[in-house]
Amino acid sequence: MLRLVFVAPLLALAGCGPTAPSADAGVPLLTCDAMAAEVTLSGRLQAELFDRQCRSCHNAASASNGDYSAADRTAAAVARPTRIAAPLLPVRPGVLSESVLWLKMNGRTAGPKGEALGGVMPPGGKLDDATLKLVKDWICTGAK
Ligand code: HEC
Repeated sequence: MLRLVFVAPLLALAGCGPTAPSADAGVPLLTCDAMAAEVTLSGRLQAELFDRQCRSCHNAASASNGDYSAADRTAAAVARPTRIAAPLLPVRPGVLSESVLWLKMNGRTAGPKGEALGGVMPPGGKLDDATLKLVKDWICTGAK
C-alpha cells in the first residue's frame, strides 16, 4: 500500500512527459508570432504551397472544397465560409484558432466550438515545420 502511494505520482509524471506538449510541438499552434515577417500569396505562398501541395485536388473542377489553383482564386476561396464547418472560414486573418485551413493542416479534428473538421490537409500528412511557419505568418500578417 505504502509503495503505491510513492509510485502513483511517478507514473502520473511519466505519463505527462510525452503526451502533454506534443500538440504544440514544432510550430506553436494558436499564437501568432509578434515579429512575423509578412508572407503573401503572390510573394511566395501560392507557388511554394498551394501549387505544389493543394492544387491537384483543390482546383476549378472541385471548387466546392475551395479552388486554390491561382493566387486570386485562393484569396477568394479562403475568405468564403467552409463547407464542412460554416460559418467558420478557411482563413480568418490574424485568428489561427478560427482558421479551418490552419487547423486542418495541423491535424486538428475539431474547431473552437467542437465543429467536426475532418482529416488533415494535405491528406498525405502534416507538412514540415518550415512550411507550416510560412502558412502561419501568412494568416497572422493579414492573409493577402
Ligand atoms: C488528395 C487531395 C487533396 C489534397 C492534395 C488537398 N486536399 Fe484539402 N480537401 C480534399 C478533400 C476531399 C476535402 C473535403 C473533405 C474534408 O474536408 O476533409 C478537402 C477539404 C479541405 C478544406 C475544407 C474546405 C471546406 O470548405 O470545407 C480545406 C481548408 C483544405 N482542404 C485545405 C487544403 C490545403 C491547404 C491543402 C494543401 C496544403 C489541401 N487541402 C490539399 C482533398 C485534398
